Amino acid sequence: MNPLKETIQKEYAAIIFNQEKIGVENQRKSVCKGIYHPIQHKYLLKKGYIDEANLGLGCGFPFDYISFKKNNFVLDLGCAAGIDCFIVSHQLGNVGKIIGIDITKELITKAAKIAEKNKIKNTEFVLGDIELMPFKNHYFDYVISNGVFSLVSSIQQTFSETFRVLKKTGVFCFSDIATKKEYDVELIEKIKQYTGCLNGILFIDNYVKALENVGFSSITVLEERKVDLFLDEMTTITTESEIYIFTIKAIKK
Ligand SMILES: C[S@@+](CC[C@H](N)C(=O)[O-])C[C@H]1O[C@@H](n2cnc3c(N)ncnc32)[C@H](O)[C@@H]1O
Repeated sequence: MNPLKETIQKEYAAIIFNQEKIGVENQRKSVCKGIYHPIQHKYLLKKGYIDEANLGLGCGFPFDYISFKKNNFVLDLGCAAGIDCFIVSHQLGNVGKIIGIDITKELITKAAKIAEKNKIKNTEFVLGDIELMPFKNHYFDYVISNGVFSLVSSIQQTFSETFRVLKKTGVFCFSDIATKKEYDVELIEKIKQYTGCLNGILFIDNYVKALENVGFSSITVLEERKVDLFLDEMTTITTESEIYIFTIKAIKK
């Protein structure tokens, strides 16, 4: 496995160990304040919300832009402990299903345990790499994702896989982090540490172009939210920060 993916697995497994040690609420306090904290109160209000599954790693609500039908098949890329899967599962019936895929074994194990404990039958959690997915072509009605793509080696490969597993007329909706400004290398390294972007932070245009390249249509940026980077060591860039959380929807026509 490539070193980037090994690092990701170690860092995300450590979040689960940390949660077990200090409790879920304290663990969430330790995540990037500018990204998760402004949306946390909204998370708590979502139907199907399960506190234990929320590691404070999400940055938006891509599922809010989809009207799920009871029999839909849905995929969550980089599902972690399953928080978004549980919220979507609440909107599906027993014929429908949401599958969460994640590269970190400890997270998949945790999500499956939470589903079992809460007797949730329409979720499934799969260990795997979203850049090479273990799913058939044209399988899902919807694919969602929340805060994952700055961790992948190739956004183009990830989107190409997403396009492959979606049914015709299927919809892809995701929230993620992006910049609107070029930073020097040193600053980008700091931002990456602070925001947990292990591989890189892209421009919104990079996402749109990658979606177009693999064949998606009707690409719409639905929402943008500026991130306040307010840790002490980041104050040098607070005033000029051009880091955004955004949500994009695209269709496989
Ligand atoms: C910032 S977290 C977001 C988690 C979740 N979507 C949420 O909202 O709570 C990023 C997740 O992506 C997973 N991940 C990173 N690279 C991946 C890859 N190539 N394939 C599958 N999962 C990956 C990590 O293990 C981690 O759980």
